[in-house]
Amino acid sequence: MARFLVTSALPYANGPIHFGHVAGAYLPADVFVRWARMAGHAVLYVCGTDEYGVAITLKAEQAGVGYREYVDRWHAEIKALFDRFGIRFDVWSGTARCPYHTQLAQQFFATLLARGLVFEQVEEQWFSEAAQRFLPDRYLQGRCPECGFEKARGDECPQCGAWIDARKLIEPISLVDGSRPVLKATRHWHLDLPQILQQGLGDWYARKKAAGDWKPNVDGYVQAMLADLKSRPITRDLPWGVPLPEGVTDDLGKVLYVWFDAPIGYVSATAEWCARVHNDPERWRDWWQDPEVRLVHFIGKDNIAFHVVVFPAMLLGQADSWEGREFVLPTAVPANEFYNLQGRKFNTSAGWHLDNDDFFSKYEADVARFHLMLSAPETADSEFTWQEFQNTNNALLADKIGNLMSRVLKFAISRCGGVVPATTGAPVAHPSLADADLAFERVGKHFEHYELRKAAQALVAGAAALNVYFDERAPWKLAKSEAAEDRAALGECVERALAYLELLSRRIAPACPEVALRMRKMLGAAADPGQAGIWGEEAAGHPPARLKSGMTLGEPGILFGKIEDAQIAAEVAALEERAQASGVL
Ligand code: MF3
Ligand code: ZN
Repeated sequence: MARFLVTSALPYANGPIHFGHVAGAYLPADVFVRWARMAGHAVLYVCGTDEYGVAITLKAEQAGVGYREYVDRWHAEIKALFDRFGIRFDVWSGTARCPYHTQLAQQFFATLLARGLVFEQVEEQWFSEAAQRFLPDRYLQGRCPECGFEKARGDECPQCGAWIDARKLIEPISLVDGSRPVLKATRHWHLDLPQILQQGLGDWYARKKAAGDWKPNVDGYVQAMLADLKSRPITRDLPWGVPLPEGVTDDLGKVLYVWFDAPIGYVSATAEWCARVHNDPERWRDWWQDPEVRLVHFIGKDNIAFHVVVFPAMLLGQADSWEGREFVLPTAVPANEFYNLQGRKFNTSAGWHLDNDDFFSKYEADVARFHLMLSAPETADSEFTWQEFQNTNNALLADKIGNLMSRVLKFAISRCGGVVPATTGAPVAHPSLADADLAFERVGKHFEHYELRKAAQALVAGAAALNVYFDERAPWKLAKSEAAEDRAALGECVERALAYLELLSRRIAPACPEVALRMRKMLGAAADPGQAGIWGEEAAGHPPARLKSGMTLGEPGILFGKIEDAQIAAEVAALEERAQASGVL
């Protein structure tokens, strides 16, 4: 049994998150965590909001609210969507609210500085005399040095797309106060990535590459980045962030760059959990400094550089300075591509999104989970369409799984007295059961390898095989005969169908936990499928009779309601109307 430390990218406390985020970095982690627990592994799943940085200060200022109030609002709002999806973190923290974050981030920085992996450099930066503050790139507007566009931002030109060195911006104005800033020297600290690459990061990356640990989309991106790796500034002039450690700066208002402190948020969130559960925040080390622990980062593709290069460099650069202990490096970074909505990127402010209140008032979280798994952006961008969502619900979940449950249960009630029939217990050989065995065995392997699409497909394939089994054995025909042989065959067929449905309820549980519970209730099985480790038990053969003969079955009910065509048409129309009304699209 292994120990897994699982993280999902800390969402910015700067706006709503949508189904695309959920499909990319949160649902895959939640499903993996549920699977791993059922398979008997020890798991800690941490997340929280990413609460610092210039994007947040800008938007809070525009909204006229204090930074803390602003991030608090999003911290709660974002969590609400995770709750609706049944995504359950062990700890939901946030970089500005976690009591351990400042000190840990400062310690990371101080260690890198002491080891010569962070260096200082004095450079010129725009300064507002009026506001007496340095201006981060995004607080500047001016003429683009490349194309002459008048309203280029300090970091990027929206017209020609060029990345801009803010100092080259022509005749900039400060977006804070409208004044004309002046260039003034200031000191910044840089992370010496080339040096860390030499000191072990490159070897580590290559070793894992040779082992096949990187997904192709990750490796493609990182190879290009490593070929031209540069130092990066990790400090900013902002009034909102983790201050540099005492004694390191003499400038006012200098903080750590948000991408430096944010991944340390995973560590501080762990400390928060340890404080709550063990009453000892220092036990975060049991997770982060134990070589047995497998660290898995679930992220979207825009976060690859930081999780595969920058954060590992920060961890490696700590070496044995923490009482002689080293940090674990990620075992896997199952980064996903992007998830869109009906042919376009999700865009909440333009109305191109799914209204969460409305969606969850009509559809069940487990159906959404299963559909997001089936359409997950694992190897390429993918999308949510209402038509495919309907198909998942109607043709797969309702027809293949719901219908089978109801057929088998109703038959068992009418013909077997509503109890699990007694059998000889001898193994039953049938090609469709062998297909189901194979499919259900694969489900676990796919969960283990972060392959949600394939796991969902295998669940459907297993259910399809069971439908074939029930059809071929046709117990309703056997029921017409009084012969002892036919009676026994009928009992055996129903018993196996029930046993496999019970197995399905366990295999589907990481994907659809609520559905699994309902299935178990209908089967008359205990809600909790049992102790850790039960996952692999049936890998090699038929499921054992967990439903003992003579056991009373529960009430059959409707597992999945159908979604009508007219309703889907209305959803698509509503989406388009919203987008039109917003005037943005
Ligand atoms: N806030 C970032 C984003 O949403 C992700 C931060 S992940 C962390 O893209 F590792 F930095 F925490
Ligand atoms: Zn330009």
